[in-house]
Amino acid sequence: MEEIMIPDPAWGSDLANIILDLEKLRTKRLGGDVPPYIFFQLKETFQILETLGSARIEGNNTTLADYVENLIAHNEDESTREIRNLEKAIAFIEQNTDSETVIDRAYISHLHKILTEGLSPPPSGEGSRYPGELRKLDVSINKSGHRPPSPMLLQECFDRFVSFINKERKEQYQLLMVAIAHHRFEYIHPFDNGNGRMGRLLNYAFLIKLDFQVKNGRILNPSSVFYSDRDKYYRMLSRADTLKDDDLLAWCEYFLLGLKNEIEKIDSLLYLDYVRDELLFPMLELSRKRAYIDEMEYKILRYIVGKEEMAIKSSELSRFGIEDSKKKAYLMSKLKKKNIVTPLKDGGRVYTIVFENNYLLRSLIEVLRRKGFVSDFLNG
Ligand SMILES: Nc1ncnc2c1ncn2[C@@H]1O[C@H](COP(=O)(O)OP(=O)(O)O)[C@@H](O)[C@H]1O
Ligand SMILES: [Mg+2]
Repeated sequence: MEEIMIPDPAWGSDLANIILDLEKLRTKRLGGDVPPYIFFQLKETFQILETLGSARIEGNNTTLADYVENLIAHNEDESTREIRNLEKAIAFIEQNTDSETVIDRAYISHLHKILTEGLSPPPSGEGSRYPGELRKLDVSINKSGHRPPSPMLLQECFDRFVSFINKERKEQYQLLMVAIAHHRFEYIHPFDNGNGRMGRLLNYAFLIKLDFQVKNGRILNPSSVFYSDRDKYYRMLSRADTLKDDDLLAWCEYFLLGLKNEIEKIDSLLYLDYVRDELLFPMLELSRKRAYIDEMEYKILRYIVGKEEMAIKSSELSRFGIEDSKKKAYLMSKLKKKNIVTPLKDGGRVYTIVFENNYLLRSLIEVLRRKGFVSDFLNG
């Protein structure tokens, strides 16, 4: 296999314009006013969408509803373990990646081990016979005429891939690198299983490395375009398998346009007004309607969300007719037990709302679905 090249898009082409727009988003200073403890929970929620999408692409049949219920009940089976592994892999990426990071063989190998841990090897499961190691057998890709390189050639192909992704290059080629790398990784299919999931995780790692502001409070679901139409994803990969410039550029346009649309959409989550009025108020409304919370809980949570800092002191419970401080403390601890409020670390008596890992999440997911953040694919 020869060196991996990046084809040049034509100046003025759609692809060139998409790259310019993405470059603006890359350097955009993120000035959102959502409190960090709320933002963090939103981020966790969006990571569910990313990990579940990635697992479902190749047959994990957990639906979003199942997943949320499992999360609330702390269930664990092989399918949820697969998703749990993806979450751990994302955590590894976030902790170990910045603009200086070399995404080398050890990094990729470690990621593959996390991904496949505790899962049965193929063909029955979504684990691997060779966790963290290049495959020692030929593989074929479902419904594709492309034959990935044989084990004999694999080492060299993989080395070329690793040097391709770490090469210093001018800005205008960096996003193209991410797109080309995703296809090329799938084309090489270095592992006996988990190549799809690995490739999608690497998208995330590359974007962090390219400074897409994830550590500065941006949510990123790099592969979400694949989850809105899996057949198209496979079709576009297949087309790129010719390795012809036109086909590779078509792949890049498909992938990078999806990325741009997603970033623009998700950046709205940095704004307090949007999060409050479009997400959290409707979430509470729905939770009350479905009787996940009672009237008093609704009032208190709505009051919390309505405040700029989205947090209250127990003394503020007076506005709900609770004057006695013992009663206030009792009510707060009840809400805390239900895991719908939690004290802020540096506040002690200041509490914020919790909507991850509890039944409020059901309503939040429904609100996100209505807003177009959740592809139908996740619902089975
Ligand atoms: N025509 C194709 N060319 C290259 N890669 C493809 C093609 N069709 C599908 N793929 C990739 O192969 C992945 C499946 O490979 P696999 O090793 O089973 O990954 P996983 O176990 O993570 O699903 C798909 O998710 C997709 O990324
Ligand atoms: Mg598989």
